[in-house]
Amino acid sequence: MFCHLNAMPADPILGLLVKYKQDENPLKIDLGVGVYKNELGHTEILNCVKKAEKYRLETEDTKVYIGPTGSAQFNDEMTKLIFGTHKVLFEDRVRTISTPGGTGALRVAAEFINTCKPGATIWVSNPTWANHMALFQAAGLTVKTYPYYDYENKCLDFEGMLAALKDVSNDDVVLLHACCHNPSGMDLTNNQWQQIAEIAKDIGFMPLIDMAYQGFGTGLDEDAYGLRLLADSVNEMIVCSSCSKNFGLYRERIGACSLVGKSTLIVEKAFTVLLSIIRGIYSMPPAHGAAIVEIILSSDELRAQWYQELKIMRDRINNNRQLLVNKLKSKGVTRDFSFITHQAGMFSFLGITAQQVKQLQDEYSIYMVDSSRMSIAGIATNNVDYLAQSIAKIL
Ligand code: LMR
Repeated sequence: MFCHLNAMPADPILGLLVKYKQDENPLKIDLGVGVYKNELGHTEILNCVKKAEKYRLETEDTKVYIGPTGSAQFNDEMTKLIFGTHKVLFEDRVRTISTPGGTGALRVAAEFINTCKPGATIWVSNPTWANHMALFQAAGLTVKTYPYYDYENKCLDFEGMLAALKDVSNDDVVLLHACCHNPSGMDLTNNQWQQIAEIAKDIGFMPLIDMAYQGFGTGLDEDAYGLRLLADSVNEMIVCSSCSKNFGLYRERIGACSLVGKSTLIVEKAFTVLLSIIRGIYSMPPAHGAAIVEIILSSDELRAQWYQELKIMRDRINNNRQLLVNKLKSKGVTRDFSFITHQAGMFSFLGITAQQVKQLQDEYSIYMVDSSRMSIAGIATNNVDYLAQSIAKIL
C-alpha cells in the first residue's frame, strides 16, 4: 500500500527548524517558525505557567476521560477572553470547545463547515498562513483568495480586499486574522474592521476568525476588537484561538473553537454536530494545557502575572522592529524598511527575493521562510548587528 507514495517536501515553516538545528555556525539566527524567544534566544516557560503547573500537580486527582468538549472551566474562561462582555454571551449564543492547538480548532471548524455545506468556498487573504490552504482543502473546502498585502508598497491592499469581499456569496466563509496577520504583520485598523463588518452584514457571509496571537498585537481586548465588532453584525461566526503563543504552551497543544449561532437553539444543535465530528477525529482534546490556562485565568494573582509576562513579550517584539530598522540604517542601507515598525505581532516580510533568502541562509546561516517572512522575536541585541550587516551585504 505504501510503495507507490512519493515523498513530500519538508513543511515550508517547520522544515526550517530542522535545518537551523543542524547548522553549526555559532552566528546562526532563527527567524523561521513563529515562536517567542527572549534576548538569549530561548523560549522560556512563563512564570505563571510554572506556578499553575505546580498547583495542578498538587491538586489533580484523576486522569479519567475529559469528553469531546474538553474542560468546561477552560471553555468558559476562553469565551470571556475572546468575547469580553459581548452580548452574544448574555444571549447564550456561543459554545466553545477545547481543541488540540489553534490548528486543531481550524481543522475542526473546517470539517464542521464542510458538514454544513459540502465543498463550501472559503476565502482566505493573499497571503495567509502557509498551512491554511492545505488544512481547508484537506477538509473538502474550496479555497479562494482575496487581495490583502500590497507587496510593492508594503501596506494593506484594502481597496482590493473590499472589492473582492463584495463579490463573496452569502453562503461562503471568509477567513480573517483577528490580529498580528500571519505572515504580513499588516493588521486592519478599527475603521477598516467597521467596513468589513458592514459588508459581512450586507452580504451575510460567515466570518471564520483565526486568533492565534491574542495579546501580541496591541492588547488582549484591542486584538479582539474586529471579531467582537463582527459578532454585532452577523448571526453566525466561528472563532478559532490558540494558547500556543500568548501562554507559551506550544507543545501542550491547546486552543479553542467557538461557535456563535443565531439563537440558543440553533447554536446548541450546531454544537452537537461539532461534537460528533470531534468524536470521529480525535475523540477528546488533551487536558493538561487547558488546566494550566484555566488555573491562570481564574486566579487574580496568576492572571495579573500573565498580563505582565504577555506585555513583556509584546514589548520586546515591538522594540525588535525598531532595533532592526535602526540597525539597517546604521549599516548604510538606503532602502526604506520603516514599514516594519508599522506592522504588528510576530511577523513581517523583509521584502527580498527567494534567491536572497536562500543566500542569507546558505552564506550567513540566517533562517526565514522563502517568502522573506521573518519571525521578529528571533532578533536580539546580540544578533541584530550581524543580521543587519548580512542583509546589507545581500542587498
Ligand atoms: C508559524 O506560522 O510559524 C506558526 O504558526 C507555527 C506553525 O505551526 O506554522
